[in-house]
Amino acid sequence: MSQRTFSIIKPDAVRKGYTAAILAEIEKAGFKIVSIKRMSISKAQAEGFYHVHAARPFFGELTDFMSSGPIFPMVLEKENAIADLRTLMGATDPAKADEGTIRKQFAASIGENAIHGSDAEETAAFEIGYFFAGIELK
Ligand code: CMP
Repeated sequence: MSQRTFSIIKPDAVRKGYTAAILAEIEKAGFKIVSIKRMSISKAQAEGFYHVHAARPFFGELTDFMSSGPIFPMVLEKENAIADLRTLMGATDPAKADEGTIRKQFAASIGENAIHGSDAEETAAFEIGYFFAGIELK
């Protein structure tokens, strides 16, 4: 059954000009891009998005980074989309990511790791709703 997940091309990858290459990997892996936009978010908006990490020591660094430049939030669809996107992204730390994954190819560090992907159905629902209105998801 088809499933939707949420992803962000992060500021590091946008700055380095990797957006199109990352989107090509995503399409090559069989995902349909349901919706996508380019935008910048404030520190407060990044804090809202990452609220589950509020107690982590890296929360300040993470939200400064995510509000440091344009991002591409998007909604992706395929069978098993949530798990398959996480496989395609590779490990959070690019040094530990498998060959051929997006983070292995395009990410520099655990903080600046090129791409975000939802980790579960409930998180995907929250994250899609945080960035997209229903009318953008037809
Ligand atoms: P993401 O999948 O967007 O979800 C939470 C993010 O926190 C994660 O990717 C990393 O970019 C970031 N993160 C996790 N661990 C660290 C860390 N030790 N230092 C900085 N950022 C981190």
